[in-house]
Amino acid sequence: MTTSNAPQRISILGATGSIGLNTLDLIGRVPDRYSVEAVTANRNAVALADLARKHGATFAVVADPDAYADLKAALAGSGIEAGAGPEALVEAATRPADRVMAAIVGAAGLAPTLAAVRRGATILLANKECLVSAGALFMNAARQSGACILPVDSEHSAIFQALDPAQTKNIERVTLTASGGPFRTWPVDRLTDARPEEAVRHPNWSMGAKISVDSATMMNKGLELIEAHHLFDIAPECLDVLVHPESIVHGFVAYRDGSVVAQLSEPDMRTPIAYSLAWPDRIEAPTPRLDLAALGKLTFEKPDLERFPALRLAIGAMESGGGAATVLNAANEIAVNLFLQNRIRFPDISQIVEDVLEKQILEGAGEPASLEDALEIDRWARDVAHAVIPERLDRAV
Ligand SMILES: NC(=O)c1ccc[n+]([C@@H]2O[C@H](COP(=O)([O-])OP(=O)(O)OC[C@H]3O[C@@H](n4cnc5c(N)ncnc54)[C@H](OP(=O)(O)O)[C@@H]3O)[C@@H](O)[C@H]2O)c1
Repeated sequence: MTTSNAPQRISILGATGSIGLNTLDLIGRVPDRYSVEAVTANRNAVALADLARKHGATFAVVADPDAYADLKAALAGSGIEAGAGPEALVEAATRPADRVMAAIVGAAGLAPTLAAVRRGATILLANKECLVSAGALFMNAARQSGACILPVDSEHSAIFQALDPAQTKNIERVTLTASGGPFRTWPVDRLTDARPEEAVRHPNWSMGAKISVDSATMMNKGLELIEAHHLFDIAPECLDVLVHPESIVHGFVAYRDGSVVAQLSEPDMRTPIAYSLAWPDRIEAPTPRLDLAALGKLTFEKPDLERFPALRLAIGAMESGGGAATVLNAANEIAVNLFLQNRIRFPDISQIVEDVLEKQILEGAGEPASLEDALEIDRWARDVAHAVIPERLDRAV
């Protein structure tokens, strides 16, 4: 461990992505406070090597072994160690960093993030899919190792700041807000023609492709409800979603005396990332400042579960427990990927997830008790998703 005056060492899993780059941007502004230990990517070797050199990382890893030669070549002469493949990814997560930013997208983040949790690191958790796929397993591992999990998702960062741990018995309701995404006001029958480039054009946030599509279906909010359920140990019936198109109020906690405590900020991920980097302190974030007088008013509405069936499916998976959320997440990853490749239509995403969940109910996959269990359920759901897809591909755009 570092002493209090030495820079904190940070590893960034998913360094080349939207969250990873924002994290490095913040770290680079306060070099006396942070240093970079390990950085990882999937196959974006040259960009990863540039980041590793720029921030003085000691270890850079690509998940895809085919990208190793490019990484090695791009790091030549730098003295930075290169690695590739799943074991190297886990090694990057377990290098002795004080904080690990878990910002790989999807279930691919499970094994390395869990390894960092088991090491007892402070985890800055952007990868919500970890808690969706294996929430009980993660939270148990954190309790056992003493790992501290700090949320990066803006809504969970808001709840973390609004929720008084001494008052959990007095909480009535925890609400996550949602922008409603780019299709909030589209006529429902037009959604059939929604194209990937329209789905990733989020009105308020700049994010990676997968989470942007998840925001357009509102699956993202469903995944976030499941994440909140595990992270804050809140019962499903006490969790709520409210559509708030301005994305200024990110979440709030209602207490039984009628008080509601909320967190507000401009929609810029550098605010919650900065909070997680510095907690329990705060650091400067170069974000626009909130001007409520200029905004004038904020609006809220209930989510439309007919327009956004993915949110309904995620709520159902959270309520039914067992392996349903693992299945939901895996089927969604497959469907979103196909949509981004223009191979299925936008409404097919939810339909494929629903088809796979129906099969899970028949087969009854239970709550994953180990990483292997979670990966096995995840694989099963991906296979079933691939099996139900051909019928939808017939209608491809
Ligand atoms: N973006 C946001 O504003 C935001 C907000 C809240 C939560 N989150 C969550 O944060 C996570 C990251 O989101 P993002 O938007 O930053 O995603 P992104 O821009 O797509 O970046 C994903 C990162 O993960 C790496 N990666 C992709 N597939 C991988 C694999 N199979 N194995 C190992 N690494 C892999 C990518 O490497 P390559 O560059 O090589 O592909 C990249 O570094 C997601 O779980 C998302 O839900 C994001």
